[in-house]
This record gives sequence, structure tokens and C-alpha cells, in this order.
Amino acid sequence: MDARQLKIQAAQAALDHVEDGMRLGIGTGSTADEFVRLLAEKVSEGFNVRGVPTSERTARLCVELGVPLYSLDDMPELDLAIDGADEIDGRLGLIKGGGGALLREKIVASASSRMIVIADESKLVDTLGQFPLPIEVAQFGMAATRIAVERLASRLGLSGAIDQRVEKDGPYLTDGDHYILDASFGRIPDAEALATGLAAIAGVVEHGLFLNMADAAIIASEQGARTLRTQD
Ligand code: A5P
Repeated sequence: MDARQLKIQAAQAALDHVEDGMRLGIGTGSTADEFVRLLAEKVSEGFNVRGVPTSERTARLCVELGVPLYSLDDMPELDLAIDGADEIDGRLGLIKGGGGALLREKIVASASSRMIVIADESKLVDTLGQFPLPIEVAQFGMAATRIAVERLASRLGLSGAIDQRVEKDGPYLTDGDHYILDASFGRIPDAEALATGLAAIAGVVEHGLFLNMADAAIIASEQGARTLRTQD
């Protein structure tokens, strides 16, 4: 099974949790894209969902494939959010934001009664941090914010490069026109402390640690999809 088939497998299993009439948060990334494609097929057969996208990218795909969309302001309470992740630990703590959509993803997940993560088993880790942690920061004062993040990391015993995300044309900009710092800590033994510290830095808009947010993770593998829950 290739990587895309595993993503489809996880997305297909997630679709079983979507009920007719649901208000749905729709994630961002290549796994979430597969979910949108499968959802769109059901919608074309008469299935009724109202989606809130977590990025302009996901919004474009939904519009192209005919998945009905609403803004979070029009529909501020959602039944279920389905999204990918960059890393998943044993307590269903996540690193997200590899695709740059962490702010809207966290707002949408927070507005949802439940969050289900879809991924293949390569995303499972013992300890978060191998994947560089995306930190969304305001453009204003980015250098000062980076120093504050470096000082926090040092206080918590974390080391590693903290790089501004760039594209070929210049700095990467999120849908909210913010910059992203990618922090290559390697290992984050106390993710709660880091999350609390980052949230207290003025220039940090949001960070990619999603702790105590996911209710379940559907993990695809050659052996089939299995569901991990927080109590497992
Ligand atoms: C988007 O900002 C991310 O949080 C994605 O959910 C994450 O990067 C997973 O993407 P893939 O499904 O493409 O691996």
C-alpha cells in the first residue's frame, strides 16, 4: 500500500463517524484532502453536511468538489472536526501546522464537540518533537518574539534551531498573514510546559501543540485502520 492509499484508508474510516446533517470542521493537509474527496462523493449522492474549512486551501478544494461551506462566524458550534497531524503521541497529543494552518485548525477544533485525527502510522511517536514545531507569530516584532521563544526553550532545557519558514519568493505567510517559526527541538519531554510558555509570549499568535484536544485518532497501516482513543 502506498502513502496515498494509507491516507485514503484513514479518511474512509473517518467518514463512518460523519452523520447526515452534521456541522463539520474540515482539516488541512494531504490526508484531509483525501477526506474531502470521499466526503464530496457522498455529498453528490445526497448526503447533507455543512462544512467549515480550516484553510483557504481546503476551502478551494471543497468548493471545487461541491462540499457546502459556511464560515465559522455563521456556524460557530460544530459537531465534529476531522483533521490530519504531523505527530501523534500516546496520549493523543499532537504537533500540527506542517501545512501552516495551525491557527484556524485550532480554532475550528476548539469550536467542535469532538476532534478525530486521521493519519498513517508513521505519525505515531513516543515523545513529540521530532517534527519541527510550527509556531505562528505576528510579523511585527518577529525578531523579538523569536528571542522570547529561544529564552523559553532554554529555560525548559530544549535546544535546536528555530527557523523562520520561507518559500522561494520570501517568508511564508499563513492565511492570517502571520509568519511561522519552525522549532527543531527533537524531543519535547514536557509539552504542557512548552504550550503554556508559548501561549504567554506576546508575539506568538498560536503554536502547533494540540494537547487534550483530539478525542480519537484513526491510524492507517498495512494491517488496516485502527482507532486510538484518549482512554486507551
Ligand atoms: C496543516 O497545517 C497540518 O496541521 C496538517 O494537518 C498536517 O501537516 C498533516 O498533513 P498531512 O496529512 O499532509 O501529513
